[in-house]
Amino acid sequence: MMNSQLFLKWIIGFVLVISIVVPNFADDVVPVLIWGGTNSGKLNSNPFEKISQTDLKDVVEKKLGESQPAVLVFVKTNFCTEDLTQHSKSLARLKQYKSFEYIPAVDSPLTIFKTLPYTNQSMEEELESVSEGQLVITEVTDLDSVAKTFDLIKKSTPHLVAALTGNYCSYRSERGKRAAEMVASNNTDVFLIETQRLLFYADHTPTLKINDSDPIDLGNVITNVTETGDATAASPLIVKMEFNAGNESAQYKATFDFEINVETTGYYTLRRVNMSRDDEFVANLEIRPAIYWANNFSYHCAQHTKFVNKTHGITLSFENLQLQMDTKIFGDTYDCVGFTSIPIWSAMFVTAIITIITLWGILMIMDIRTMDRFDDPKGKTITISATD
Ligand SMILES: *[C@@H]1O[C@H](CO)[C@@H](O)[C@H](O)[C@H]1NC(C)=O
Ligand SMILES: *[C@@H]1O[C@H](CO)[C@@H](O)[C@H](O)[C@H]1NC(C)=O
Ligand SMILES: *[C@@H]1O[C@H](CO)[C@@H](O)[C@H](O)[C@H]1NC(C)=O
Ligand SMILES: *[C@@H]1O[C@H](CO)[C@@H](O)[C@H](O)[C@H]1NC(C)=O
Ligand SMILES: *[C@@H]1O[C@H](CO)[C@@H](O)[C@H](O)[C@H]1NC(C)=O
Ligand SMILES: *[C@@H]1O[C@H](CO)[C@@H](O)[C@H](O)[C@H]1NC(C)=O
Ligand SMILES: *[C@@H]1O[C@H](CO)[C@@H](O)[C@H](O)[C@H]1NC(C)=O
Ligand SMILES: *[C@@H]1O[C@H](CO)[C@@H](O)[C@H](O)[C@H]1NC(C)=O
Repeated sequence: MMNSQLFLKWIIGFVLVISIVVPNFADDVVPVLIWGGTNSGKLNSNPFEKISQTDLKDVVEKKLGESQPAVLVFVKTNFCTEDLTQHSKSLARLKQYKSFEYIPAVDSPLTIFKTLPYTNQSMEEELESVSEGQLVITEVTDLDSVAKTFDLIKKSTPHLVAALTGNYCSYRSERGKRAAEMVASNNTDVFLIETQRLLFYADHTPTLKINDSDPIDLGNVITNVTETGDATAASPLIVKMEFNAGNESAQYKATFDFEINVETTGYYTLRRVNMSRDDEFVANLEIRPAIYWANNFSYHCAQHTKFVNKTHGITLSFENLQLQMDTKIFGDTYDCVGFTSIPIWSAMFVTAIITIITLWGILMIMDIRTMDRFDDPKGKTITISATD
């Protein structure tokens, strides 16, 4: 009996430890402050609840309105609600702007700003100016400097909307750290293509690798992106992008035709990209497994997306690709995360342990046997053998 009590204590201890450790897998949920601009995109939600990216997007879109005012996003790598209380004195100055909005918790809000339809987006360490129609993301380490910087920029750019947010809250979140590294790296030219039907985004401009040579950065498209077809099984949507490729001595025009198809109703599929060199067909590049996403969602599955033709030794790569059809702004993402994500695993694990303990307890209770023999004062005394 002593041994099973010890065992029980171990299990209870284990469950407690698990329940303390599990919340550290928390997602990159951080607060967001938005101010400036003329419109206020008031949010009708519980101020203590986490809001979805879609809701944040609505708020941001309302703030920006129809025109494209200058947007300045301050990013503090590790940013928690506690930071706001610590720097409340200097941040309180921001509240004087009439459209100030505080959102306590959003999942990875930076992606919302990155996917705003601003073609002139950049990340800058040394902030000098932000002009209309431009979106600048800048890193801050000192929250006390935010209000000062904003006032300074606002002097030259009156139509300025600013936001303050972070990559993650906590020192343990690995995903947040990776995002922070991406902000720190140099190739920060985002790649955003907007056609009548397709919204196409990547963190960086694409790279092309031919046989064993070093991958070359294709830069941005050199002509307007055109599209034909109407994205049905009979007539796939073909989006044509043209880039400058090659080296100084041998420049050429590389054309990529992205073929978006409907193979299953309700889903779009991107399986093939045809490459041409100076308008001469070179090869079909393929991706396996094919990219597919549901009609009203955006595809956002892999960090690296590669279209390959092995026989010709050609690889076209995109970082953090995101695609959606028939929209001006990304909606809910389809992240290819299966049902069994980490939080679900932990929940199932903890539930299983508790179930086992309860079952064990019930079995123990069922094992209690009441006396079935009683001492008969007139008869022989009961003897119990000592060997048991
Ligand atoms: C973005 O805007 C800035 C400031 O107006 C300008 O200097 C820069 O050339 C623009 N970049 C692009 C790619 O249009
Ligand atoms: C970014 O570029 C600067 C010079 O422009 C260089 O010194 C620095 O090493 C680069 N950083 C990374 C991460 O590539
Ligand atoms: C690209 O599109 C813009 C706006 O539709 C147009 O003004 C411009 O002339 C086009 N450029 C080319 C090279 O077709
Ligand atoms: C440029 O590329 C061609 C092949 O595309 C190659 O033969 C040539 O050596 C390259 N030149 C330089 C300077 O890298
Ligand atoms: C790509 O090439 C294949 C055959 O090589 C052809 O059937 C298809 O129509 C081409 N697609 C585009 C978008 O050009
Ligand atoms: C590579 O491109 C050629 C066309 O030039 C095509 O016939 C072949 O099937 C492609 N290979 C792969 C693996 O896609
Ligand atoms: C997608 O959204 C549009 C309008 O928002 C709606 O009409 C359509 O039914 C939706 N499609 C699916 C598959 O949900
Ligand atoms: C890559 O190498 C293969 C074999 O050496 C050759 O057949 C092919 O043409 C090369 N690809 C390009 C794009 O030059």
